[in-house]
Amino acid sequence: MINLFEGSNPSLSAPFEAACHATKPGFNSPQRRYTVRLRKLRSQVTKRIIVAANRLPVRQVEGAWERSPGGLVSALLPILEKNNGVWIGWSGSADETIEPFEHDGIRLIPLTLGRQEVDEYYLGFSNETIWPLFHGAIRTPAYHRHWWRTYQAVNKRFAEAIADASTGEELVWIQDYQLLLVPKYLKEMAPGLDVRSFLHIPFPPVELYARLPWRQEVLEGMLDADVIAFQTERGAGNFISAATTFAGAAATDRGLVWSGETHRVVASPISIDTAEYERVAGLDETRQKVLSIRADLGNPEVIFLGADRLDYTKGIDVRFRAYEAMLERHPDLAAKTKFVQIGVPSRSTIKDYVEVKEDIEQIAGRINSTQGSRHYMPIHYLYESLTMEDLVAYYCAADVMVVTPFADGMNLVAKEFVASRIEDDGVLLLSEFAGAAQELREAILLNPFHVDGIASKLHRAIEMDGEERQRRMKVMRQIVREHDVHRWARSALGSDLDVVTA
Ligand code: F6P
Repeated sequence: MINLFEGSNPSLSAPFEAACHATKPGFNSPQRRYTVRLRKLRSQVTKRIIVAANRLPVRQVEGAWERSPGGLVSALLPILEKNNGVWIGWSGSADETIEPFEHDGIRLIPLTLGRQEVDEYYLGFSNETIWPLFHGAIRTPAYHRHWWRTYQAVNKRFAEAIADASTGEELVWIQDYQLLLVPKYLKEMAPGLDVRSFLHIPFPPVELYARLPWRQEVLEGMLDADVIAFQTERGAGNFISAATTFAGAAATDRGLVWSGETHRVVASPISIDTAEYERVAGLDETRQKVLSIRADLGNPEVIFLGADRLDYTKGIDVRFRAYEAMLERHPDLAAKTKFVQIGVPSRSTIKDYVEVKEDIEQIAGRINSTQGSRHYMPIHYLYESLTMEDLVAYYCAADVMVVTPFADGMNLVAKEFVASRIEDDGVLLLSEFAGAAQELREAILLNPFHVDGIASKLHRAIEMDGEERQRRMKVMRQIVREHDVHRWARSALGSDLDVVTA
């Protein structure tokens, strides 16, 4: 067994501490105050860890398994490797049965999903019911009883797979909105397990959550975890309101009391592998790529950059409209600036995703024809998935990073951009509605619904003097250095957590 916490003594940064005293509206009382008790993390993980997530941490590329990109995977794999851990998840293809195997020293247990399960559990209930509802109903959630039944059945299968892989002594860490019912099913099968959950997406205000026909069942599914973690204080507070309103939980100083047990509710913002972004940003190869990206774009004075999974929650359409409004106000900037947008293909069979893709392409086409010329196209749009190394080159080539989600659990792109700016340069425009805005207070914060407001902020970013840019970026870099994904994972797996209390 290993001690993951030797020598760790994190004290939270000022911005996060400030966020820990946020005021938020409750369901019945308009202004309820949530506070967090801050405690030092001196805990030890001595248990073997089982992670359950919708997807495995690897993907098949040309017939071979390779590690998936992303902070969660890079933070957890070393921990799992050291403590003989296991990861249970879906391979990403329907009807694919794969025997458990080892990768990078970790035991992976693939769960087979049939075509109907993919359609109803993953595409349906997870991504057309919970996803839009939890992101503020920015698209209308669909409520289908057969999707709900399949979601229950697949969550039960995940619980069975965990119970099969466990000796009854492990710490089980359940990831995200696809597996909200797993804690309940698992506790029924193996009551002694230490079960923790982490929701990567926002938990909505109770007025919205109230619409879910299965609101009580979903809360009961989540409440059986010993620790229930959210990205932000606001998400944790919203969950407490919902659990007390619809599931009969009682909020106390130590956590939520439900069914005779106390369940800790915590805010634990996820982060990135900051050192790795810094390392890649500092490579000669990256510098070369930066020069060629800028040259290929015609060496404009200012490059705006957006990089997102192509999702309707990201506000890509609005940021294009804002750019257009800025060019209309300042026609001299047309030939001097360029907006590069990377859209990573995602969930592309879902109607709302098809529509948002068409929308974005149509807006980009219109702007390029009205604001561009034979020699100049203001928007450069790439619909593809880039390697981490290429993405870092784009982060370093940009002058202004534009992050405009209407709702977002965290938004790691904002943190990745900051970590990559090793010369303390560049400006970050960041939606107030991204979890990252709770920590990155030195970004230019914006309301993603306000086209003219964003247009003014794009212009302000261009005008910002070098000294201010440096000062802001320095503060933000310090934050992502101190709060990286390794610290997040250690704190999430520790036993002495910051509890959110009502
Ligand atoms: O943001 C939520 C999330 O589930 C991430 O954890 C994940 O990287 C992303 O969405 C991709 O989703 P999917 O598995 O549906 O492609």
